Amino acid sequence: MAFMLIGVAACVALKSAAQEVSQPIAYSHKKHVEEVGLECADCHANAETAARASIPNIEMCGACHNDAEAENPQERRVAEFVAGDVLIPWKVVHAVPDHAFFSHRRHVKLAGLECALCHGEVTQMEEPFAQPFLEIEMEWCMGCHEEKVASNDCYACHR
Ligand code: HEC
Ligand code: HEC
Ligand code: HEC
Ligand code: HEC
Ligand code: HEC
Repeated sequence: MAFMLIGVAACVALKSAAQEVSQPIAYSHKKHVEEVGLECADCHANAETAARASIPNIEMCGACHNDAEAENPQERRVAEFVAGDVLIPWKVVHAVPDHAFFSHRRHVKLAGLECALCHGEVTQMEEPFAQPFLEIEMEWCMGCHEEKVASNDCYACHR
């Protein structure tokens, strides 16, 4: 029994360690939202209209970052991706497994929930995401559904 518990603890530790990722560009949400004045929807265009919010890439960044001589080395790197027409390999950190269904449109548009409720104070983030703001677990989904009286039928999420 003790052996099994140690095994489980080790797995949990491995799981959370593996979840820390390092992003290819030191992107700052704070800079782009507070200083540049962009809105979430300018970059995550599908958050109100589709299941996936989507992460912007060179076609979007290129509108402002095409100066290969920029002073900031991170901006130069973005300009290199843009000039080479190479996609920035962002690592997606918030993800539900394929056997469960989640839709941004449903939660943002229909339920009117704020991004911050599920993703934290993104406007204050100076570093890119290394891990999800909240662990994406079934109890988390069901807890809010219970509170907001949304469906907790198994087939609502497992289609
Ligand atoms: C509407 C214009 C605009 C768009 C679009 C834009 N940026 Fe920026 N970005 C800026 C400005 C302005 C700065 C600040 C420049 C400065 O302070 O010298 C900046 C700064 C940066 C920096 C330097 C980091 C820092 O903290 O100063 C990085 C890296 C960066 N942007 C990445 C990106 C990426 C990646 C995208 C696409 C997802 C993007 N930007 C889209 C305008 C933009
Ligand atoms: C009810 C909770 C909730 C709200 C509200 C929410 N999200 Fe999400 N977000 C999630 C979950 C869960 C995932 C993982 C979804 C998946 O894998 O299909 C995710 C994934 C993402 C991703 C990365 C993957 C993708 O979908 O492309 C981005 C970007 C994102 N959300 C942005 C936003 C923005 C911007 C808003 C506000 C307009 C928002 N989210 C509102 C829960 C939420
Ligand atoms: C200039 C474009 C831009 C704007 C504006 C912007 N984002 Fe992002 N967002 C990005 C980029 C690039 C990434 C990938 C790098 C990172 O993880 O920080 C990202 C990542 C995310 C993720 C994590 C996606 C994942 O991997 O699961 C969430 C959540 C998110 N943004 C929410 C927001 C919210 C909420 C707002 C408005 C307050 C916002 N973003 C505004 C460009 C933007
Ligand atoms: C913060 C609260 C909150 C969280 C967290 C949340 N949801 Fe929801 N969800 C809602 C609300 C409210 C609705 C009802 C939206 C509407 O008006 O249609 C809903 C609706 C849904 C529906 C449509 C149900 C139907 O009737 O067919 C699905 C599917 C769903 N959510 C999946 C998820 C999944 C999967 C997660 C976790 C990854 C999750 N939700 C997390 C609040 C939440
Ligand atoms: C509101 C959405 C939602 C509802 C309702 C829901 N689930 Fe889930 N379920 C999820 C999400 C998201 C995951 C993946 C995250 C995780 O593993 O915790 C999941 C994971 C699972 C798993 C896999 C667990 C694992 O360890 O891999 C099973 C089995 C499961 N659900 C069964 C059910 C059953 C049975 C019901 C009905 C009593 C149900 N779910 C209702 C969202 C939901």
